[in-house]
Amino acid sequence: MPKVIFETLDGERREVEAAADISLMEIALAEGLEGIDGECGGACSCATCHVEVNAKWWAAVGKPEDMELDMLDFCEELTEHSRLGCQVKMTDALDGLEVKIVGR
Ligand code: FES
Repeated sequence: MPKVIFETLDGERREVEAAADISLMEIALAEGLEGIDGECGGACSCATCHVEVNAKWWAAVGKPEDMELDMLDFCEELTEHSRLGCQVKMTDALDGLEVKIVGR
């Protein structure tokens, strides 16, 4: 199973194994990681799943589409590598992905 490494709000690194095709938001919720609420259930309409993708993974993860960009505008601390966790699904190619939980 691919692994994702989350940097938590308090700066800890949490390495989590996750089945492919599961979103970063779902993985974080299952792990009880603070700062990811997933209030809309992954419908790209709440922006409570904001993460910053490590720069070295940005090309592999890919850019957000227009609907996601609109929701990202509601996030504080927006960065050039911001994504909504519900819109990024794990794949075997993303094994070792590093993301930072930004919170609202
Ligand atoms: S869970 Fe609502 S936008 Fe991601």
